[in-house]
Amino acid sequence: MSEFWSIYVSVLTIGTLIGLTWLLFGTRKGEKKSETTETMGHSFDGIEEYDNPLPRWWFMLFIGTLVFGVGYLILYPGLGNWKGLLPGYEDGWTGVHEWEKEMNKADAKFGPIFAKYATMPVQQVAQDPAALKMGGRLFASNCSVCHGSDAKGAFGFPNLTDASWRWGGDADTIKATIMGGRIGMMPAWGEVLGEEGVKNVSAYVRHNLAGLPLPKGAAFNLEAGKQAYATTCVACHGPEGKGNPLLGAPDLTAPAAFIYGTSLAQLQQTIRHGRQGHMPAQNELLGNDKVQLVAAYVYSLSHGTPEEKTAE
Ligand code: HEC
Ligand code: HEC
Repeated sequence: MSEFWSIYVSVLTIGTLIGLTWLLFGTRKGEKKSETTETMGHSFDGIEEYDNPLPRWWFMLFIGTLVFGVGYLILYPGLGNWKGLLPGYEDGWTGVHEWEKEMNKADAKFGPIFAKYATMPVQQVAQDPAALKMGGRLFASNCSVCHGSDAKGAFGFPNLTDASWRWGGDADTIKATIMGGRIGMMPAWGEVLGEEGVKNVSAYVRHNLAGLPLPKGAAFNLEAGKQAYATTCVACHGPEGKGNPLLGAPDLTAPAAFIYGTSLAQLQQTIRHGRQGHMPAQNELLGNDKVQLVAAYVYSLSHGTPEEKTAE
């Protein structure tokens, strides 16, 4: 805390304590010494207030809290940069310091273990049950909010346990994805294609590429949709709709891996307004050595754990 804020906090705290003390004694002055039947003179709905003194025990309770407050502020950190008279609070005592201490202890303990795995290829780390256990824990605390505790994804978040990959599923690519993060850039096509165009190309994607049925009786111009696909979508999703991992453009022939839904309405929404899925980079949050473990864990989810392999 800077000098200014330290003084600011101290003045505010001490000022409040002094103010409260004054209030307590100041209002006592005109008080009656004993019980009385005189009223304060105001009445609300026929309810009146006797001009009785504050009960003694109540008054002492106030004194007690004031004394406690002053004693506490002398013994423990609380007044700006004051560290308190008791030993053990040299670093202050906010949770942040406790957390930092814990983290430093954990780093000292696990750092060398993590470092050992960091020099091995990810694929090899994925064969090590102890490493997978640690990777699984890192996944649970850092990734499951978005990808789910079973890593099977959710709307807008890809499943990491299947064979479909937007950016590539080999061990090194998975690690690169986690380290550097990814942003899927699917442009908005509403203005370019017009409403009719969006509907036709959505039907084409659903029917011809994803192989899903169209609602009966609905009229779509699939030929026009195909044309639109060939001119507007091919560059990223490829002539057969198989996608392009360099751009994170998904395979449109694998409907199970769509993260924004496969219904016509959802497809139209995606194509009309575009999508920008954001996978946050972990290099600064977790660092290379932890990403190595979590990458191995993610890799193992779709490539089998060592036990499963030996069972084969
Ligand atoms: C804030 C939400 C969020 C968190 C946290 C997050 N991810 Fe992601 N992740 C995403 C999104 C969204 C995508 C899809 C990006 C795109 O649209 O291409 C993604 C994509 C990925 C991919 C690429 C999938 C593919 O098909 O190529 C991998 C691998 C991945 N995440 C692993 C992780 C791991 C491991 C962690 C934890 C260290 C993590 N993610 C944490 C949101 C998140
Ligand atoms: C500039 C490259 C690019 C072009 C051109 C492009 N897309 Fe995409 N598309 C992407 C990317 C990248 C994603 C992934 C977005 C994300 O992960 O958030 C995507 C996602 C999608 C999805 C969602 C898949 C899912 O996971 O739910 C659909 C559907 C789609 N595109 C259809 C089309 C159609 C139809 C066209 C042509 C009208 C088209 N795209 C043109 C790059 C492109």
